[in-house]
Amino acid sequence: MSGSRTAAWVSDFTLATAYPSVTARTQPCPSLSPARAYWNQRLTVAAERERILALGQAVDRHSDLLPYQWAQLMAAAMEFAPELILELGRHKGNSTCAFVEASHRIQDRPRVLSLCLSDNWTRETVTQPRKIMPQSWFQPLEALRTDILDFPFEKTLLAVKRVLIFWDAHGFDVAECVLGRILAIVVPLEHLVIMHDITDNRYASADHLEYGEHGLWKGTDWSGPRVKLGIVDSAVGQCIATLDFAARNRITLDSADHSYRTELSAAQQEEMRLLLGDLFDTQAHWIYFTLNQRPGPFTYPRHARPRASAWRSRFRFWLR
Ligand SMILES: C[S@@+](CC[C@H](N)C(=O)[O-])C[C@H]1O[C@@H](n2cnc3c(N)ncnc32)[C@H](O)[C@@H]1O
Repeated sequence: MSGSRTAAWVSDFTLATAYPSVTARTQPCPSLSPARAYWNQRLTVAAERERILALGQAVDRHSDLLPYQWAQLMAAAMEFAPELILELGRHKGNSTCAFVEASHRIQDRPRVLSLCLSDNWTRETVTQPRKIMPQSWFQPLEALRTDILDFPFEKTLLAVKRVLIFWDAHGFDVAECVLGRILAIVVPLEHLVIMHDITDNRYASADHLEYGEHGLWKGTDWSGPRVKLGIVDSAVGQCIATLDFAARNRITLDSADHSYRTELSAAQQEEMRLLLGDLFDTQAHWIYFTLNQRPGPFTYPRHARPRASAWRSRFRFWLR
């Protein structure tokens, strides 16, 4: 996705001098260039530095989202300026806080709808950000404890024109729901999907290609084995399902890593490194795609019946 875009925006780097702290929506929907977003939003991100670090401390789960990933995701959200940010997988809430913080920098303050099975946010995390942020800061956020597989997405998604989906809930069941159900709903909308925990193989060092002590990767697994297919290097099952979906639909998946390394010049990288410190890196470990890149039609996997309704149906005699 990134190659043909470079010429169109590269002059922005030298011409842009004013950086509004609130991003206005542009029409029509641009396909995202993570590098352009990072660059365009660099002064806003720099001004956010203390808040980002404080929120990261409040969440206290740095391994789930590194400081530069907070900055990258916020920059992407601010640049894309959606009406809704749909977060799939919240856990302790790094990306939740990053997107709420970004929401306050976007015109009309988009809603952040966060769906997760876990209650870590309400049970462990939320008291900490409450100590450093006013009540109004939480206003864009709707954090629900729910199963993504059961959630009624139609009503929520069809009420907006532009949606950013952050996909950080792992495994094939959620993948079937995202690819088979959520994408089929958002296809007429301006939409962007960001998938976390997927690294770009093109930038893996030779030792990362070694099997080492590991056998084959056989499904989502954090103990060490990884799957490497095309540009994708990951431990999570949804990468396979998404590669398969992209091949069937002739759409391109691309990585933020590739965008930063190929679209930011050495001088730009150096400037951002000096400006942002640990909020800047050219490694990202997330990929992105949209069905907006071509007209369709598209093919979707059948999404198996949601668990709750399957359960209700199985026990319908007792429930009557
Ligand atoms: C990697 S964590 C999310 C981390 C978070 N995005 C962050 O930046 O801190 C993945 C989360 O997805 C949730 N999850 C997995 N399957 C789910 C499902 N079917 N419905 C809702 N949440 C699910 C898990 O409970 C877990 O909390």
